[in-house]
Order: sequence, then structure tokens, then C-alpha cells
Amino acid sequence: MEQLQQIFIDKFGTEGTGMYFAPGRINLIGEHTDYNGGYVFPAAITLGTYAVARKREDQLIQLYSENFPEKGVISFSLDELDYRKEDDWTNYPKGVVRFLKEAGQVIDRGFDIAFYGNIPNGAGLSSSASIELLTGVCLKDLFDLTLTTLDLVKIGKKVENEFIGVNSGIMDQFAIGMGQKDHALLLDTNTLNYEVVPAAFGDYVVAIMNTNKRRELADSKYNERRAECEEALARLQKSLAIDSLGALDEATFFANTALIDDPRLIKRAKHAVTENQRTLKAKAALTAGDLEEFGQLLNASHASLRDDYEVTGHELDTLVAAAQAHPAVLGARMTGAGFGGCGIALVKESEWADFEASVKAAYLAEIGYATDIYQASIDDGARKL
Ligand code: GLA
Repeated sequence: MEQLQQIFIDKFGTEGTGMYFAPGRINLIGEHTDYNGGYVFPAAITLGTYAVARKREDQLIQLYSENFPEKGVISFSLDELDYRKEDDWTNYPKGVVRFLKEAGQVIDRGFDIAFYGNIPNGAGLSSSASIELLTGVCLKDLFDLTLTTLDLVKIGKKVENEFIGVNSGIMDQFAIGMGQKDHALLLDTNTLNYEVVPAAFGDYVVAIMNTNKRRELADSKYNERRAECEEALARLQKSLAIDSLGALDEATFFANTALIDDPRLIKRAKHAVTENQRTLKAKAALTAGDLEEFGQLLNASHASLRDDYEVTGHELDTLVAAAQAHPAVLGARMTGAGFGGCGIALVKESEWADFEASVKAAYLAEIGYATDIYQASIDDGARKL
């Protein structure tokens, strides 16, 4: 934070008045269910984004990120809040300002913010939602805005959907806004009711394993999956009174696949329905302390994302298979949107060193470049420091 305060002074000539943090997130299970009215089970992590900020006297907004020093300070005026490609990463904070203002919040002066994040870039740990919630928390504090964290969560999602153009669900912003240290959130994305569940893994820890693969085409493939689910739902609705795939139990789904009448769409919907049920089972297993069962459900989730939803790819499959093959691992899966990014694994802590060495070696041998592996620690949501 001291370093970031110094960077703020170098870029903007005076000290910032507030310091803020927003985490990244992992998702334990419940993948690609949040836009299908299903359950997700994410947690905020200690990797995240920091900011130092200060209000200005004029209408100028100036943003700098130590992660993109070559882009320098990017500036725009408080009354020019349109998406502009050349504004690059600052479109995330810009979208937040725009939608806060549209929601009637009074932001009547400009501001300067310096950002620095330690979430590995493009790793699928939600660095973009982290910036959105961080900007929200900053502005709420600087301008004494009268809104809740849940309002900021919804604004973040709106930025993603309507400003950036990714048709994502609410999981990332929710986890990053509402996260609680050492707990995961079982969120019903249909109602936004949620339960805070101790992330107690006993002798085990959660590993985050980065494929270091660029998530190419991730956004367009993501939108494509979402459209496929919507089409499958529309076909089921011809005979079933449901408003989302998340409303279906497995028996009803399998009895009605003929309505969908397309093998690809059936596979997509099958993932959404079964993953939703797995998420509930995984929460029950974790609460009961049945880590073996929890691990099996992680493995089943990955298989479904690989075979039915087809969002994993060779790098994630290699990494997850290498983890699953290790005797200290109870289960492993991809986490987040997929198409690259990270996997997670439940690993016996006493055998961490051997696990890490063996997964790294297997990945390097098959893929030709390295994976990075960290131990996840679960943190609180976005906040003023
Ligand atoms: C991305 C999206 C989330 C969610 C996951 C997949 O992280 O932003 O809304 O859909 O993918 O579970």
C-alpha cells in the first residue's frame, strides 16, 4: 500500500485520501449455472486489486494502473462516459461511474485513482469484477453514496453485460462484494438468497493452478454457451412450466430431452441441470465434513464441463488430470468461465510439496510451458482499508 501511495503521488502530484481492496474469487463448484437460475459456490480470495484514490476539484477522471504502466494515465471527463476501445482497461471503472450516475447517485466532481492488482492476468479469477467492485467501494466512500454492497454488485454485473458486452451472470461480482473470510457463499442466483458456509477443509487446502493459457475467444464462446442454454430452455418450455434450467431436477430433465431435440443443446442443458444438483450435494458434503464426496463432485463437475459443456480445452484438462492423478488430491476441476484460466484442487496439506512438483512436471511435459500453483486463502469482500 505504501508503494501504491508513492505511485499515486508520482502520477497525480499529491497524496491519495483513501485506500481500498477488492479480492478476486474462486468458484468451488457450480460452473456456468449462474445465468441458468442455478446455484454457485464461490469464495473471495486474498489475491486481488488495491486502489489509492482522491477526489478532484474539477470534472476530470484520471486512472492509472501499475499493471499496465505502458498505458500511462488514462483520462476522461465526468460527462464523457461512453465505452471507448482506446480507453482499454479503464472501461471497467468508467462503466461503474456511468451506471452509478444513471442510478441517480451524485458524483459531481472528478477523481484520481491508482490501481495495482496481484491477480494473475487473464487467469479466470475475476480481475475485471475485482476492478468493478473496487471502483464502486472507492466512489461510495469518496462521494458518500447511499447504496449497499448488493447495489454495487448489480452495477458491476451491468457494466460487464451492457458496457463491456459479456453476457455473464452475477457470481463473480457477488463473491467479490459479499465474500467472507474462511467462508464460501452458496448463492441461489435465481433469488439472490445466500448461505455463508465455513470453508473448512481439515487437513486439506485448496490449490489454485494456473494454465497460463490466454483465454482466447473466451467472451464470444461464453456468449455462445449462454445462447445455447437459452435455446434449450425455450424448447423445454413448450411443455414444461419452468423459468430457468435451474428449476429442473435431473429426473424431469432426462424424461424431457426429446423436447430439445438437438444433441448439442441437450448436452449443454444436461450440464446446467446436473451441475446445479452437484452444487447442492457438494455444499451438503462439505457441511457434513465428507471431503471424499466433495472431491468426487469436483471431479464430476470437471467431466461435465469437459464432455457436455465443452469449455475446458487441452491445457485445463491436462492440469486437472495431473492433479486428480496425485494420491494427495481428493478432487480437482476447472474454475471460472474455462477456455484456459485456472483449475482448483483439494490437496492434503502435508503432501503439498510433492503434489506441486508432480503437477508442474506433468503439465510442462505435455504442454511445453509452466503452470503456477498457489494455495488459496479465502478473504473478505471489497472494502476500504
Ligand atoms: C464467468 C462469469 C460468471 C460465471 C462463470 C462460469 O466467471 O463471469 O458469471 O458464469 O464464468 O460459472
